[in-house]
Amino acid sequence: MVIRWRHVVGVLVACILGAFLVTWSGLISIKASTGHWRITDIVLHWVMRSSVRSAAIGTKVPAFTKGMLPMAAGHFEAGCAVCHGSPAMPRPDSVAKMLPPPPDLKDKIVTWSDAELFLIVQHGVRYTGMPAWPVADREDEAWAMVAFLRRYPELDGDQYRALTGFTAIASQGMDRLIATCNGCHAPDRLRPESLIPRLAGQSSTYLEQALIAYANETRRSGVMAVAIEKLTEAELKDLAHHFAGEGADPMPLLAGDLFERGQTLALKGDPSRGVPACLSCHDKAEANPSYPRLSGQPAAYLANQLRLFVEKKRGGGPFKEVMTRAAAKLEANDISALAAYFSARDIADQNAPN
Ligand code: HEC
Ligand code: HEC
Ligand code: HEC
Repeated sequence: MVIRWRHVVGVLVACILGAFLVTWSGLISIKASTGHWRITDIVLHWVMRSSVRSAAIGTKVPAFTKGMLPMAAGHFEAGCAVCHGSPAMPRPDSVAKMLPPPPDLKDKIVTWSDAELFLIVQHGVRYTGMPAWPVADREDEAWAMVAFLRRYPELDGDQYRALTGFTAIASQGMDRLIATCNGCHAPDRLRPESLIPRLAGQSSTYLEQALIAYANETRRSGVMAVAIEKLTEAELKDLAHHFAGEGADPMPLLAGDLFERGQTLALKGDPSRGVPACLSCHDKAEANPSYPRLSGQPAAYLANQLRLFVEKKRGGGPFKEVMTRAAAKLEANDISALAAYFSARDIADQNAPN
């Protein structure tokens, strides 16, 4: 028999009409309670795997550092464990009824490459409850999460709790909030390679402006967005007051020659390249309270914030443009030198001539 075009078109039209009728009849269930047929489940996961695999091609994987882990682990506890469970807590029953249910990630992570995990964490998975990263315009936070996920399958409950910094908190009210913040910000857990800032030593004005900036998204961080999402403005102010003030010790010095270079730049700037003297604004005895103190901050945190300023992604409080301009001409080696200098700078240097 010769197949003619009108037969092909006829069959196609019949298929489309058939599909339309089945859909219209209401026979296809969208009830989540009955689950997917096995075949639907296989097809959907095949689509997900293929889509993620193709999108991951060409994605450049950055170097993972130890400093990424505490921040990502703390965020996992605050923003992922509610659905996926953790080594310290089984998946809640309520989410097991989601369709598809969020899987226990222990066995899943090994089946994805770093680039694929990044895409899932940054963009989420459509048609499932898997959300995208809370802020879209920076990638470093999702990469830190990938670094943590790589470690995740080996962690037992105690190792997980140690890394996340979360302990069972018996207190209530403000004390409870402070304990949650300290899960990440506790000064004794911070190292030069940490991406988490030290709050002690800042003015309450700066801390309050930073928290308000996170709340109204003029400073964008998925980690901080989740950490403060349920808090009122009054609570943010109280927290800023609590964390301000205390002194901050310098961090151990990472590399000596970088310190010297950073010190020269911080004191004098480099007028030939349009780099201002950082110490003309920062860490002065009579500094503007909206200008943060840099001395004693983890070097990795300082470097990451400077990179964000250079890329015009940092945002901040009412004076953020001042700093965006100050950072505009910084190059990668300036950033590592300045970060090393300020991290190890003793606050006793505060009154050094400048
Ligand atoms: C609201 C619930 C929810 C939250 C919160 C959530 N997820 Fe998911 N996640 C899901 C669901 C649902 C899937 C899809 C499961 C599937 O494909 O069958 C998923 C899938 C994943 C996968 C792919 C697993 C696989 O192989 O199927 C990874 C990895 C993942 N999530 C990591 C995370 C991380 C990291 C976070 C926190 C930043 C997070 N998820 C937050 C619900 C959630
Ligand atoms: C899961 C870890 C985590 C938790 C919990 C957390 N933070 Fe943060 N915090 C961070 C990270 C990471 C940053 C840097 C984010 C960025 O790149 O802007 C940050 C930044 C900040 C800043 C800006 C500091 C500066 O020098 O600019 C303030 C203020 C702050 N956090 C306060 C709090 C308070 C108050 C709480 C408790 C309600 C809290 N944080 C809970 C990880 C955390
Ligand atoms: C003209 C004043 C000025 C100069 C000069 C200046 N800064 Fe800043 N800097 C600011 C202000 C204001 C902010 C606060 C921005 C905000 O609202 O978050 C800031 C923020 C920062 C932060 C973020 C700190 C944190 O806790 O998140 C870093 C890091 C920083 N500056 C480093 C430098 C370095 C390094 C230099 C020298 C190259 C420099 N600054 C020069 C005004 C200045």
